[in-house]
Amino acid sequence: MKIDDFASYCKRRGIIFPSSEIYGGISGFYDYGPIGIEIKNNIRQLWWKSMVTDHDNVVGIDGSVITHPKVWEASGHVDNFVDYLTECKKCRSKVRADHLVEDVLKKPADGLSADELDKLIKKNKIKCQSCKGELGDVSEFNLMFRTPVGPEGDYSSFLRPETAQVIFTNFSNVLDTCRMKLPFGIAQIGKAFRNEISPRNFLFRLREFEQMEMEFFVDPEKKSDCPEMGLVEDLRANVLTAKEQGGKHKIIKIKIKDLLKKKIIKSKWHAYWIGRRYKWFLDLGINSDKLRLREHVDTELSHYSSATWDIEYEYDFGWKELEGIADRTDFDLKQHEKHSKNKMQYFDEETQRRFIPHVAAEPSVGVDRAFLTFLIDAYSEEKVKGETRIVLKLHPKLAAYKAAVFPLVKKDGLPEKALNIYNDLKECFPVFYDQSGSIGRRYRRMDEIGTPLCITIDYDSKNDDTVTVRDRDSLKQDRIKISEIKNYIWEKVWN
Ligand code: GAP
Repeated sequence: MKIDDFASYCKRRGIIFPSSEIYGGISGFYDYGPIGIEIKNNIRQLWWKSMVTDHDNVVGIDGSVITHPKVWEASGHVDNFVDYLTECKKCRSKVRADHLVEDVLKKPADGLSADELDKLIKKNKIKCQSCKGELGDVSEFNLMFRTPVGPEGDYSSFLRPETAQVIFTNFSNVLDTCRMKLPFGIAQIGKAFRNEISPRNFLFRLREFEQMEMEFFVDPEKKSDCPEMGLVEDLRANVLTAKEQGGKHKIIKIKIKDLLKKKIIKSKWHAYWIGRRYKWFLDLGINSDKLRLREHVDTELSHYSSATWDIEYEYDFGWKELEGIADRTDFDLKQHEKHSKNKMQYFDEETQRRFIPHVAAEPSVGVDRAFLTFLIDAYSEEKVKGETRIVLKLHPKLAAYKAAVFPLVKKDGLPEKALNIYNDLKECFPVFYDQSGSIGRRYRRMDEIGTPLCITIDYDSKNDDTVTVRDRDSLKQDRIKISEIKNYIWEKVWN
């Protein structure tokens, strides 16, 4: 399905709306509707559980969006957080030069300089894709949104382009107040803003989005002391190494432990978090054939990274980054120590050493991009009795409602009985009640938003206290006792 058609479906079903639509919309901004926000909340909660609650050595914070402007000088974003822009001399449309080169020449252009992109555009006579006009010289464009602070714009700062820096600036606060011992992680979920030159592909590239990030700090001498490695070492992943990207682009299926053994991934903690994050998507139902790990080639590494691996998904518009997991070394803490003149160090009592910890792994994923991926992956159209059935086969943990409750008809005491069941279930799960329209239409409405179970109360229910439970994916119907419904839903969602 084309991404624009998918966006229309999301609007029709109350999942996502274009922002400020009554004024014609605004590019790169979207609003979550009543169904969308429930799914988004589930993604956030499941990430938080798997990254924070499930670990004794990871804590969370919730930092401010606007920070002291020096944060962004220290982090390197003022100097380095740029994309390359070219403008059509005829229609004045502005496009990202690397994306344009990639689209036209069908080869990666990430990491090329303004000069290199300029030469490629001129050499290959690349024109504006909208009007075939001539393109202007390629220039640098900083992606941060600048904002005045104070009533008279006393000074200006930026809306944060990543949540990570607020973790680094709070490193000592967390260390001191929570008595953390290395290795440990600090996690955060929150808004980030990037003034993308050409936001596109629906929720994929936005100007306002949300990130889920964790910085995992380690002793640089113990980057491979990872007692939890056993949890992921046998996980087999689809992998595209940096070396292959200079050659045949062959994807290999390989276990995480073998990537370590072959020194393709250098440290165990990095490998561990890459494995955990890859597994998270698989456990939540993402099709394994559409997921791969891709190692960054040297030229595309961010200014702070010594090694980065992306988890990529095969969208309609190609294999693209879903999540990045970087080894950020001690770059950020060192920079903040230098610029703020505050110590960003850790004292190891056992060895009596004082040092700046390294971030062995920074798993970083956009909530919106994960949301888009889960939904695209779950969307299916099936032919049933000559009709097209749209089904969102979301993992039940992600579904907005875990079940829907329907009385078969709107009379003879069935709605009252159904409402009793609904009110009882509501205490334990998000459930939906619907008594309007034919039962077939009610099923279809729930299929389209991914509700895994539909519970129907019919005339037999009045006599024997049983109901019919219909499974969204198999369409199988079970007759069960009302007293068993909660266990039935629980099994479906959590097992
Ligand atoms: N702290 C590291 C960092 O921000 P990144 O690769 O620039 O790294 C991490 O971003 C993740 O944030 C991406 O993998 C993607 O999921 C999400 N993301 C980045 N830019 C985005 C955008 N413009 N719109 C939506 N999501 C975005």
